[in-house]
Amino acid sequence: MVSRVIPVDPFDLVIFGGTGDLARGKILPALYRRWRAGQIPPGARVIGAARAAHDDESYRVLVGQVLAAADGGPDELAGFLRIVAYQRIDVAADAGWEALAARLADGAGRVTAYYFSVAPGLFGSLAARLQAHGLAGEGARVVVEKPFGNDLASARRLNRDLAAHFEESQIYRIDHYLGKETVQNLMAVRFGNMLFEPLWNSQYVDHIQITVAETVGVGGRGAYYDGAGAMRDMVQNHLMQLLCLIAMEPPARFAPDELRDEKLKVIRALDPVKPHHIVRGQYEQESCGYRAAVGNPRSRTESYIALRTHISNWRWAGTPFYLRTGKRLVARSSVINVMFKDAPHSIFGAEAGRHANVLSIRLQPNEGITLKVTIKEPGPGGMRLVDVPLDMSFAEALGAEEHDRPDAYERLIMDVIRGNQTLFMRGDEVEAAWAWTDPIIAGWEARGDVPKPYDSGSTGPGDAELLMQRDGRRWQGIKP
Ligand code: NDP
Ligand code: BG6
Repeated sequence: MVSRVIPVDPFDLVIFGGTGDLARGKILPALYRRWRAGQIPPGARVIGAARAAHDDESYRVLVGQVLAAADGGPDELAGFLRIVAYQRIDVAADAGWEALAARLADGAGRVTAYYFSVAPGLFGSLAARLQAHGLAGEGARVVVEKPFGNDLASARRLNRDLAAHFEESQIYRIDHYLGKETVQNLMAVRFGNMLFEPLWNSQYVDHIQITVAETVGVGGRGAYYDGAGAMRDMVQNHLMQLLCLIAMEPPARFAPDELRDEKLKVIRALDPVKPHHIVRGQYEQESCGYRAAVGNPRSRTESYIALRTHISNWRWAGTPFYLRTGKRLVARSSVINVMFKDAPHSIFGAEAGRHANVLSIRLQPNEGITLKVTIKEPGPGGMRLVDVPLDMSFAEALGAEEHDRPDAYERLIMDVIRGNQTLFMRGDEVEAAWAWTDPIIAGWEARGDVPKPYDSGSTGPGDAELLMQRDGRRWQGIKP
């Protein structure tokens, strides 16, 4: 399937932190791919900004090295590098600001986006300096990365710092899960089909499982991760977004505030999580377990979490939502399983067994949908029932592999330029998510809970199975 590329108007994008890990690993490669796709016009400018002593030429060399391994020929790369420039600047001091303002004056009237790819502690002074130098006008947009705060108080501070200089309509808070094609597909499946929505409630759904399993460990981000843990790093944001999209009411339109209003209602309707409905784990491994990886032999930070929660509203009263995520698990697999109830009465008698439909929405890898349906086992021997999968892989159905599609950052950055906030988090949404998360964390800290060890390459700690078994349920397997 050929994707449609609609070029954007010329724009200026200033990447504060343009020499850092995020810029090298995600932002610049994403921009280059959009350039190669023909979406970015030659009149656009990408200005890296940091304290390091680069000039335009030496920064272009750096960017060229970063993109050397990317697809594309030398001409394409040379073309992209022509739109790249560098401004030496200190976002926490006055050096470099006049020069940046002078550069941007050449592009007056066009969209100017400022990517805050620096530590969150710098957001406030960065926002203030943009305004002080006349760079926070109407056409300005700011892009901020997660983590958006470490708790409710810090998220509120960040929101206040940004709101002092920018309107909410100018602020783009990234949760890259919302930029994933398959995450958006969740909405298409729910609201583009008549089939599912009538059954999408506690009358027909027994429970919902949301799993985001990773095989990677904490990598080189030990210091950050050990201060965060799976709850702050994944549940408060990525899993929360998945939960919202699977549980929210249909918005009247696929438009920023309509969608975000509905997500906010879900978050606000979440019940507090009871201590016995939380399982925290920490991976162990002979050569480099979690504690060695983060360099903290006494760390109590979780690299795995499973929990059960409820949404107290008419649609979902009585339907538990089970969430789990962890590092160094048996397979990389993000999947949402909607577990339907058994048929109310079996006309085939008790010997036919119990059978319930399961709708599995695979987000990554091998994106697709499987619906487990019950049929008669072929052959003689009476009415024996068997569950079989109705399986659809998006790659097979649409002919587009994961690597052929724009990645989350490509889509999100282009949405910033187009001024579409639908796939970005609103300030109140982030605060509501922290308001639900904070008491959970405060609870285990007050109790002095220690995460349960689990083997690297396993499905997580055994207690997570017990969490389900106590409710007479089972996790679906973690399969790649
Ligand atoms: P790095 O430490 O790799 O890079 C930080 C960047 O900020 C460098 O370019 C640095 O350059 C610049 N910088 C630091 N201080 C200043 C200053 N006073 N003025 C101007 N520039 C400054 O961090 P990351 O790229 O990893 O992270 C950036 C942000 O993105 C953080 O908020 C992080 O939490 C978030 N994030 C990162 C992810 C990742 O994959 N790395 C994933 C998700 C979020 P210099 O020292 O030359 O000034
Ligand atoms: C990031 C987390 O936000 O998401 C990482 O900080 C995690 O810890 C990553 O590995 C997962 O993203 P993806 O796109 O690989 O599923």
